[in-house]
Amino acid sequence: MKILVTGGAGFIGSHLVERLLELGHSVWTLDNMSTGRLDFLNKVTENNRHSVIHGSVTDKYLLRGLMERVDVVFHLAAVLGVKNTVENPLKVIEGNIDGTRNILELAYQNRVKVVFSSTSEVYGRNTKLPFSEDSDRVLGAPSIHRWCYATAKALDEHLCFAYAEKGLPVSIVRYFNAYGPRQTSSQYGGVIPRFIKAALRNEPIEVHHDGSQIRCFTYIQDTVEGTVATISSQANGLAFNIGSEHSITILNLAQKIRELADSSSPIVHVPYERAYGPGYEDMPIRIPDISRARRLLQYEPSITLEEGLSRSIAWFRQQLQEGRL
Ligand SMILES: NC(=O)c1ccc[n+]([C@@H]2O[C@H](COP(=O)([O-])OP(=O)(O)OC[C@H]3O[C@@H](n4cnc5c(N)ncnc54)[C@H](O)[C@@H]3O)[C@@H](O)[C@H]2O)c1
Repeated sequence: MKILVTGGAGFIGSHLVERLLELGHSVWTLDNMSTGRLDFLNKVTENNRHSVIHGSVTDKYLLRGLMERVDVVFHLAAVLGVKNTVENPLKVIEGNIDGTRNILELAYQNRVKVVFSSTSEVYGRNTKLPFSEDSDRVLGAPSIHRWCYATAKALDEHLCFAYAEKGLPVSIVRYFNAYGPRQTSSQYGGVIPRFIKAALRNEPIEVHHDGSQIRCFTYIQDTVEGTVATISSQANGLAFNIGSEHSITILNLAQKIRELADSSSPIVHVPYERAYGPGYEDMPIRIPDISRARRLLQYEPSITLEEGLSRSIAWFRQQLQEGRL
């Protein structure tokens, strides 16, 4: 198939591009390089089934030319990260809505299948666990910027479902804390890269609040397998939770990373208001119900947290040694 990956030079996108090429597809990567890195695509730059286009999903003219050529678009381009959400709400809202509208409009005109990358953040602070795809969204007031990313992604999902009703083949993947090599987003909120970098430098590992927050971390390979599986027409018109069911507290995660990295870092607690300013709200626990993905996509996460963290630590260690971080 001919496939466009927006945000293909980013963390998840670059791994997805590699996998799609491995499967024999032809791939166009569209990225504005705002957080993506060209060297993340080093393994596939020589592949003659792959082209990289430096540009934005907000450039409708550029996008139209690409959408006329492809059968499927994986739309990952986005502005994300808790820190961005709190500090740059306009950037987050515009960065997540304008491009998605273009993608869906042009996909509809050209009968292109869309796979949209959403997030477990859409469930907000719902406490009924695990989250199934039809669970309620429970969010704080719109005056609190922290919720703008979840709201923008949820609006994107509404658009996807509306186009699905008009006949567009579209699937939504809701990622639960993907992590792994190339997750260089620590400056805007990725907890695993932040902890690994601190551990490798023997600097304090900063755990926000008391560290009792529970999350399910999903190794990139498992995230990508779930994403690729949604090409199937079985997945049309549906959202899928894509994530591991294995949960861990943030404090235990910090301890595990310190141990695996053989680090002497102290673990220190930082109140939310010091990390994100006054009034910050977090969700205490996030666990996915992945039965729909299991049933329709044969999705089964297979990389253990220990294995995934060890591979990630090895990658970050090398990046630090090469002065790339
Ligand atoms: N990493 C996670 O745990 C996670 C969790 C939930 C959802 N997601 C979603 O997965 C997708 C990929 O996230 P990621 O973690 O790889 O982040 P990332 O920042 O590494 O990747 C995003 C990519 O999009 C590019 N980009 C941003 N705006 C663009 C634009 N206007 N035009 C073209 N390219 C643009 C960036 O340069 C970057 O390469 C995003 O849609 C994100 O919301 C990620």
